[in-house]
Amino acid sequence: MAVTELLPATPENIRRAAEMLRAGGLVAFPTETVYGLGANALDENAVAGIFAAKGRPAADPLIVHLHGVAQLAGVTRAVPPIALRLAEVFWPGPLTLILPKSPAVPALVTSGLETVAVRIPDHPLALALLEAADLPVAAPSANRFGRTSPTTAQHVWHDLHGRIDLILDGGPTPIGVESTVLDVTASPPRILRPGGIAPEMLEPVIGPVQVSGQTERLQAGLPSPGLLEKHYAPQAEMVLFTGRKARQALMAYLREQSAAGRKVGVLAVDQEAEEAQRAGAVVYRLGGALPSVARRIYAGMRWLDGQGVDLILCRDFGQEGLGLAIHDRLTRAATRILESP
Ligand code: TXA
Ligand code: MG
Repeated sequence: MAVTELLPATPENIRRAAEMLRAGGLVAFPTETVYGLGANALDENAVAGIFAAKGRPAADPLIVHLHGVAQLAGVTRAVPPIALRLAEVFWPGPLTLILPKSPAVPALVTSGLETVAVRIPDHPLALALLEAADLPVAAPSANRFGRTSPTTAQHVWHDLHGRIDLILDGGPTPIGVESTVLDVTASPPRILRPGGIAPEMLEPVIGPVQVSGQTERLQAGLPSPGLLEKHYAPQAEMVLFTGRKARQALMAYLREQSAAGRKVGVLAVDQEAEEAQRAGAVVYRLGGALPSVARRIYAGMRWLDGQGVDLILCRDFGQEGLGLAIHDRLTRAATRILESP
């Protein structure tokens, strides 16, 4: 495959993208979380193309995107009442449900698991595309394997041009971190990957949920290999500062590394950006509050990589609400974590 088209998401281009999907092609499109790389989930060859384009190991299953709950019947074997309750409250939205798989879904989509991951994305362009194609669309994040997820069409172009058919440009994605992956076949339901919907939002609807800690997930060998270490990572070495004195520790480390002649990038909230700049850092501003940090964190890692920094520093933002998803991604992007209690 040689030519990748990068097109604005006009109604006409959306129709064209839908035809491409129906013909077995690979189309990147915006969702409310990150850009996805879509293919017809029922077409094994098309799905194989996703793995090839991303360089993704076949052991890492994909999320199937739908435009309405009526499509669940085509990809699942059974839908427990709890899933319907969640769908009613959170779909369309950044919640992926793990459900028993229908035999109609090729094993490649689910990496041979008996379950399938599904969600309805909350983005007008994604929904328009899914409706026009009227297919279940398998779509992982539209990045090369191991890189951070793309939050703009330019990120997708950077990683995948020449490897896919089409990229629909719908501007930056509004949430910026991936969906929450919730296994509703477990009791109580288990969060396999924290994301756009916080546990605090799920519990009033379905009661207690389990949150797999990273170590626990890795040790238990749970079937969600997207949770591998060293995932969602920038190319530069990255150091994450956690604990009460994280900010002071980051600044001290920045001064020390700058003095040693290293080019240091900092992912900083507005309040600390000036100080980091004065200390010689290349600064990417994350904004002031958690939604802004989530929206900008991946773009920041990519931008700092583009500036050719030797090292990226960031502090932790706690684990409340969206903080948990940000904490999870930063933990996995980091080469080193320095705790200052
Ligand atoms: O927000 C999102 O979820 C984005 C947009 C494009 O929808 N998609 C996304 O896909 O992040 P991906 O492939 O990068 O991550 C899918 C995650 C992986 O951690 C994978 O292991 C997990 O979902 N997953 C998929 N199917 C699964 C299954 N049957 N059981 C357990 N985990 C599953
Ligand atoms: Mg991904």
